[in-house]
Amino acid sequence: MKTITLSTSEYFCIRGGFPLRGEIEVSGSKNASLPILMASLLSEDESEIFNTPDLLDIQNTIELLENLGVEVLCGDKSIRVYPREITNCKASDETVRKMRASVLVMGPLLVRCSKAVVSMPGGCSIGVRPVDQHLKFFSEAGVKVDVKHGYIHLEIERIKPVEFTFDLITVTGTENALMFLSSIEGKSILRNIAIEPEVMDLVEVLRKMGAEIEIEERTAIIRGTKDLKGFRHKVIPDRIEAGTLMVSAFVTKGDVTIKNLNTSHITAIIKALKEAGAEIEFPEENSLRIFSKGDTINPLCIETREYPGFPTDMQAQFMAMLSVADGESFIRENIFENRFQHVMELKRMGANIEVSGNTAYIKGVPKLTGAEVFSTDLRASASLVIAGLIAEGETIVRDIYHLDRGYEKLDKKLKRLGAHIERLETS
Ligand code: EPZ
Repeated sequence: MKTITLSTSEYFCIRGGFPLRGEIEVSGSKNASLPILMASLLSEDESEIFNTPDLLDIQNTIELLENLGVEVLCGDKSIRVYPREITNCKASDETVRKMRASVLVMGPLLVRCSKAVVSMPGGCSIGVRPVDQHLKFFSEAGVKVDVKHGYIHLEIERIKPVEFTFDLITVTGTENALMFLSSIEGKSILRNIAIEPEVMDLVEVLRKMGAEIEIEERTAIIRGTKDLKGFRHKVIPDRIEAGTLMVSAFVTKGDVTIKNLNTSHITAIIKALKEAGAEIEFPEENSLRIFSKGDTINPLCIETREYPGFPTDMQAQFMAMLSVADGESFIRENIFENRFQHVMELKRMGANIEVSGNTAYIKGVPKLTGAEVFSTDLRASASLVIAGLIAEGETIVRDIYHLDRGYEKLDKKLKRLGAHIERLETS
């Protein structure tokens, strides 16, 4: 795994109007890799994780583990972790600001060190994103929780199994709780949990480590053990990268076969694209072919929901597509309170979108026109790339470091499919 540097001067230059054609493989899931790398801390044994994507966020997680005193060896698409001893139980402000998913270190550090000090994650461009549910769980599970001087101080006061119900569905909140309870002997119950595929992939890992975990709808019954073992695990394919490639293929009126994906993880995406007019076939078990028969894209009404509903991480990409649909669409963002940063940038390209509260109303226009646009967050940057693929003329997408956090070489994959996209650097 090469060292990826965060370059604020790189940008994409995209010439629109070229249909995507050919075959492409999906990389491993970022949002499965992050909690699973943290879970490796739960045991002193060596663990090995396969199919990890080569991303900035993975790099940041490796640095975080090394800062805790853990040895990490990176191979090509695999990471070996040797957490024999943890010499530091603090995730610094710099670490957490670089990657808010660093909060996932709380559960494992408590298990190994009985304490943890983690910088309070700030807000981000898509919302305030508090961690109150994480802290409420830890507090009810016997952990003393203090927030002072911008840091969360956690210390185990008494070890006990717990029955806890989340007030709202939180992916990383569920993951933190599952990792912590995997080491607690006795029967614990978590209710109103997130059941995203990435959470279930973590459950598979925790089972391999020795925890007994039963999942029934949104309830988890966990019987933990103090003696968690190391594991070897191949992370699931990235369903959001798969969805992003599918939208790109359909909106450019292309014909693309996407391989190495788990189609059962993307049923909501498949359903929405079929309603939009995409033809989707399943030539083999872990692949799909997407193409468009007609010239039009049907308008859609989309509500983002927790899994298995329509994923919020696909909202921006669909908005780019619906900007040129044949009619009026709306997208209601029910998960994050500020995930419409891409709207203003799409409007610079000629999109006709009005936002009212958490709903965006999109009136399809015949075409978008190329412009210089700025990424504001990971999925917004993907939305602008998709818009550039179909816009008339040249689009410049700035601040693509946002994209590099969560997509492995997306520009190279698109180029291989026929897109005219160049990664350039401002001198
Ligand atoms: C995970 O973030 C993903 N990140 C996000 O993906 C994804 O958008 C999100 O889940 C929703 O699916 C990772 O898995 C690393 P949440 P997470 O806790 O866990 C509120 C991407 O693009 N909330 O499920 O941080 C919160 O503000 C990223 O890959 C509380 O109020 O999301 C949000 O409105 C972006 N209190 C909602 O719940 C809490 O304690 C869902 O958040 C926790 C969350």
